[in-house]
Amino acid sequence: MVEAVQDAAVVVTGAGGGIGAALARRFAAAGARVVVNDLDPAKAEAVAGEIGGVAVPGDASAIVADARDALGGRVDVYCANAGVGSGGTEAADEAVWALAWDVNVMAHVRAAHALLPDWLERGAGRFVSTVSAAGLLTMIGAAPYSVTKHGAYAFAEWLSLTYRHRGVKVHAICPQGVRTDMLTASGSAGELVLAPTAIEPDDVADALFKGIEEDRFLILPHPEVAEYYRARATEPDRWLRGMNRLQRQWEEATAR
Ligand SMILES: NC(=O)c1ccc[n+]([C@@H]2O[C@H](COP(=O)([O-])OP(=O)(O)OC[C@H]3O[C@@H](n4cnc5c(N)ncnc54)[C@H](O)[C@@H]3O)[C@@H](O)[C@H]2O)c1
Repeated sequence: MVEAVQDAAVVVTGAGGGIGAALARRFAAAGARVVVNDLDPAKAEAVAGEIGGVAVPGDASAIVADARDALGGRVDVYCANAGVGSGGTEAADEAVWALAWDVNVMAHVRAAHALLPDWLERGAGRFVSTVSAAGLLTMIGAAPYSVTKHGAYAFAEWLSLTYRHRGVKVHAICPQGVRTDMLTASGSAGELVLAPTAIEPDDVADALFKGIEEDRFLILPHPEVAEYYRARATEPDRWLRGMNRLQRQWEEATAR
């Protein structure tokens, strides 16, 4: 049991399924009061009903005020988990880029904007960002996803270094493949790169709770990502050659 989350008022966005639902279940099991958000009201209601939480459906960008009301006037932990898997190249529609930017980055910025005044006044608050290993590395075939997840990671990092001395804790979760609807929808690239080492949503919740206990910013449910991230930073050309091999393997497999 993680003491920090017992009796905490928790919000999880995109919690109608996948990783968000696993996080919501885990927080509820640890004794937290949980707001379950999802764009899909039926999914939010179903998970909230199952865990004794409260459903606050809607776009994750604009739910802090309603969630705070539902939790009796306070949010202690905010999990910015909702995300869109936006694949495509530089030729992806502007609308695809705009949605990825809005959900994967700006929803986090807007939530932090709404949460910070209270957190800074109280000297306490916890922001959990479900980023992706694509935010540290990259994902073949998915430029909008990779770029905006780098943005999500950068924002989480910025929040952490800016407010950590004022009682605000930040965690960035960066998994590779996780068996959810998003992985299924990622198609042949996901099958090649993510599926072979995919883990369960519950494994991501385990990793987050361990990270909270150990007070760590970077949460790596796939520990090997640390090595890839190191390689990217220290030997960028070698790393790019390796990623390009993967790209060509994907092209051959799909006759692109
Ligand atoms: N599945 C993976 O392999 C994987 C790997 C790394 C990171 N992630 C990240 O994990 C997070 C959760 O993804 P998942 O795999 O559980 O996907 P999922 O598709 O199972 O769940 C995402 C949920 O978010 C909801 N949603 C989408 N846009 C929303 C919005 N604007 N407001 C509120 N809810 C919204 C969807 O309705 C859905 O229920 C995402 O940020 C994703 O990028 C997933």
